[in-house]
Amino acid sequence: MILETERLLIRPIKIEDKKEIFEYRRDKEMNTYQGWIPETMEDVEKFIDQVSKQINIPETWFQFVIVQKETEKIVGDIGIHFIGEENKQTEIGCTLNKDFQSKGIATESVKKVIDYLFNELDKHRIITSIDPKNEKSIRLVERIGFRKEAHFVESLFINGKWVDDLIYALLKNEWGKINSN
Ligand SMILES: CC(C)(COP(=O)(O)OP(=O)(O)OC[C@H]1O[C@@H](n2cnc3c(N)ncnc32)[C@H](O)[C@@H]1OP(=O)(O)O)[C@@H](O)C(=O)NCCC(=O)NCCS
Repeated sequence: MILETERLLIRPIKIEDKKEIFEYRRDKEMNTYQGWIPETMEDVEKFIDQVSKQINIPETWFQFVIVQKETEKIVGDIGIHFIGEENKQTEIGCTLNKDFQSKGIATESVKKVIDYLFNELDKHRIITSIDPKNEKSIRLVERIGFRKEAHFVESLFINGKWVDDLIYALLKNEWGKINSN
């Protein structure tokens, strides 16, 4: 299943993507707020191997890559966590190669995935978890229309330290209203 926007193709990750993924995911500075930073190519192989091969399976993560149509290059990825047995809620996370940031690519691709989750898979609620210091991520989700629901203090242990966690959420009916304006 492939999603398409004006500039991008959003398709399931495959093992052949490992080199391009490693290139930007290994960057410790850019990925300061990420729980997963691969040290080796084998780490990326394991990651690709353990994500769900099928989308929309309860209690699994599914991983898309974002491909720039013009260059056919992988410019980032979007992970989706299908939460709970009733399978009506998801968590979403996005990472871009730093050479492709600040061009609206994350906004364009995340909006398309949200459309797909609400309109094709009939999800009720989408959440995202963000470190309060991750300003670009906060700007991204607020630009799209997510609401801040919670600020948990030192609730996550990431990269060797306790960090705060913001939870942002978006309901299907809110997405409908945003898009009817
Ligand atoms: C979070 C992340 C994906 C956001 O990327 P981004 O490049 O800021 O987001 P976009 O691609 O939507 O670009 C938006 C920016 O480009 C600008 N822009 C330029 N052309 C644009 C266009 N055609 N359309 C929309 N925005 C455009 C916007 O004004 C905005 O600028 P701003 O950040 O100064 O407000 C990126 O910072 C990242 O990968 N971070 C590391 C990983 C991470 O921490 N992920 C979050 C945890 S899940």
